[in-house]
Amino acid sequence: MEQTFKALLISEENGQSLKEVQSLPLSSLPQNDTLIRVEYSSLNYKDALSATGNKGVTRTFPHVPGIDAVGTVEESSGPLWKKGDQVLVTGFDLGMNTWGGFGQFIRIPGEWIVALPDTLSAKEAMALGTAGFTAGLCVDKLILAGIKPSDGPIAVSGATGGVGSISLQLLHKLGYETVAISGKKGTDLQQEMQVSEWIDRQEFIDESKRALLKPRFAGAIDSVGGTVLTTLLRSLYYNGVVAACGMAQSGDLAMTVFPFILNGVSLLGVDSVQASMETRKRVWSLLANEWKLDQLVDITKEVTLEEIPAQVDLMLAGKTEGRMVVNLQK
Ligand SMILES: NC(=O)c1ccc[n+]([C@@H]2O[C@H](COP(=O)([O-])OP(=O)(O)OC[C@H]3O[C@@H](n4cnc5c(N)ncnc54)[C@H](OP(=O)(O)O)[C@@H]3O)[C@@H](O)[C@H]2O)c1
Repeated sequence: MEQTFKALLISEENGQSLKEVQSLPLSSLPQNDTLIRVEYSSLNYKDALSATGNKGVTRTFPHVPGIDAVGTVEESSGPLWKKGDQVLVTGFDLGMNTWGGFGQFIRIPGEWIVALPDTLSAKEAMALGTAGFTAGLCVDKLILAGIKPSDGPIAVSGATGGVGSISLQLLHKLGYETVAISGKKGTDLQQEMQVSEWIDRQEFIDESKRALLKPRFAGAIDSVGGTVLTTLLRSLYYNGVVAACGMAQSGDLAMTVFPFILNGVSLLGVDSVQASMETRKRVWSLLANEWKLDQLVDITKEVTLEEIPAQVDLMLAGKTEGRMVVNLQK
């Protein structure tokens, strides 16, 4: 009898997306070279979009979301991996149009895989996941742009989200003073983040026509976009830098060029999906060693496949906090 695996299958019916945990045959996985038994996945904003039928993320349904996975190679016909290797995968097409980590098995091209660093457990790797990897890329961009702790505070928007909360923790570990911009009044994670100031998002947003605002930050990490990003860009010190990776508020960017041409401000884009293997290995190594957040796993919530649908709704309503790992062995 053919082996089956448990997965959260998203299907469409009468324009609605249905989310059901099902038992599926291994042959339903795509014909790629490497089969992985998934131990943990994690819940990211993009998974919430895929799980609710967003065609910008996933074109065809039925579909298994999950842009992150960590586990053990079960079999591989490619040259890169062998049975028993401990591996992690984030991004590329995983969970978008290739069935992803919300299933106990994935079958993917070996070129998408990174070896799980020895200093990270499977659960620690997924407490980071795409959100942590992206936060790492954002911090890396600021450092490569020359922003040092002595230059001044770094603002982080979407502060209680996955990317935001890990960015704050990484920056603190590296000696930066941090300022949180959040829609929430406060959070259980606040202590972990060690921010010097907590700014209410609505009070922060400046929708006036002023091209430049009072300079407050040496740099910023933005996962929100829209008027939060335009306010950040107008609030930087001379030569300040924003690393922008998300659009939880909006994909629009309505502003003048004055912060760039009068203040030397830079807007650096960050993408985790197509990041090169060289960048992946370098940033995962930093996250697993010099930048390791030892307490992250303790403040990460663990959920089962059955619990994902309720968390997806909360995430899209902006009501989740921090990171969530998905245990595929339960
Ligand atoms: N470029 C890349 O490769 C990449 C990688 C990962 C994520 N992303 C993007 O980054 C964003 C955040 O991802 P995530 O996984 O961290 O999501 P998340 O955990 O849901 O965090 C998003 C946070 O943004 C804030 N937020 C939510 N709705 C908002 C709204 N309408 N207006 C303003 N702020 C809002 C909330 O924080 P507060 O309540 O604290 O304000 C929320 O916790 C998403 O757009 C995602 O697609 C991009």
